Amino acid sequence: MSVDAFSNTFSLYNVGEFGAAEPEDGQRWSTWPAITPSERGPEPHPDWLVTSAAAFDTELGIVKTGKEADVFLIERAVPGDPSQPSILAAKRYRGTETSDFHRSAQYHEGRRMRNTRDTRAVARGSSYGHSVSAGRWAYAEFEALCRMHSMGVPVPYPVQVNGTEILMEFIGDDSGAAPRLAQAKGSVSQLSSYLEQVTDIMLTMAQAGLAHGDLSAYNLLVHHDRIVVIDLPQVVDIASNPNGMALLHRDCVNVCDWFTRRGHNCDSEEMFAALVAELFA
Ligand SMILES: Nc1ncnc2c1ncn2[C@@H]1O[C@H](COP(=O)(O)OP(=O)(O)O)[C@@H](O)[C@H]1O
Ligand SMILES: [Mg+2]
Repeated sequence: MSVDAFSNTFSLYNVGEFGAAEPEDGQRWSTWPAITPSERGPEPHPDWLVTSAAAFDTELGIVKTGKEADVFLIERAVPGDPSQPSILAAKRYRGTETSDFHRSAQYHEGRRMRNTRDTRAVARGSSYGHSVSAGRWAYAEFEALCRMHSMGVPVPYPVQVNGTEILMEFIGDDSGAAPRLAQAKGSVSQLSSYLEQVTDIMLTMAQAGLAHGDLSAYNLLVHHDRIVVIDLPQVVDIASNPNGMALLHRDCVNVCDWFTRRGHNCDSEEMFAALVAELFA
């Protein structure tokens, strides 16, 4: 089912023999009650978040399949409860050999793994190693989302992490997911506002010593004229990662080249210099 069709499928529940609802195919009990507090998003939890233990998670469709992860649309709601359901994006990292962790090595320098068994399994590429990698990426992305959220960077609210799955706020509305900046049609004045917002995001991150590490018009969503940054598993601590400066520079080039191609000039070296100044401020 396409994401566009999801609004028609809200609140379809199977009522069991004794009148109590039971999860059907494509449904599960809400995983929220079983999630330990440290694996839940920052408090206060937003009003729109359904936290009832009676809620179901219903998979409404695929938002996007990717190389390392797939993103699904999930509705979390209490069957029969007419109040607003939570609409969530589930990003599921692949734990199998088919995943392609192309961004591994350069980002992980300066990070540490839990134990040597995991380190060896990842190096060997065993199936256990793949699931360790998938879980590490999910946790890394969840932590980065929480950190960005606490710094006031516009990211989807991180709801929870559970193994290889992150649940986060769905950025979009009844007509579907918010477009990526790469697909957004913007007037000249909108482009200038987008660039300003992206620059603000990068400055705030640099003030905390961080670079996105995979920033491009594909990892920026445009929702009602506001930019939201996504895809953060590889967020780089610039001081501790030997590739930190190079990755920060690449982010600047990716962003500025895109705006320049769209007719809005942007000097990547100037941007890089401004960000480096923040690092040492
Ligand atoms: N929270 C979200 N809300 C709406 N769409 C999302 C959300 N997270 C991801 N997406 C969509 O899924 C795509 C892939 O997600 P992303 O995190 O960039 O993973 P990857 O690029 O590693 O496959 C995005 O380009 C975007 O279209
Ligand atoms: Mg992406």
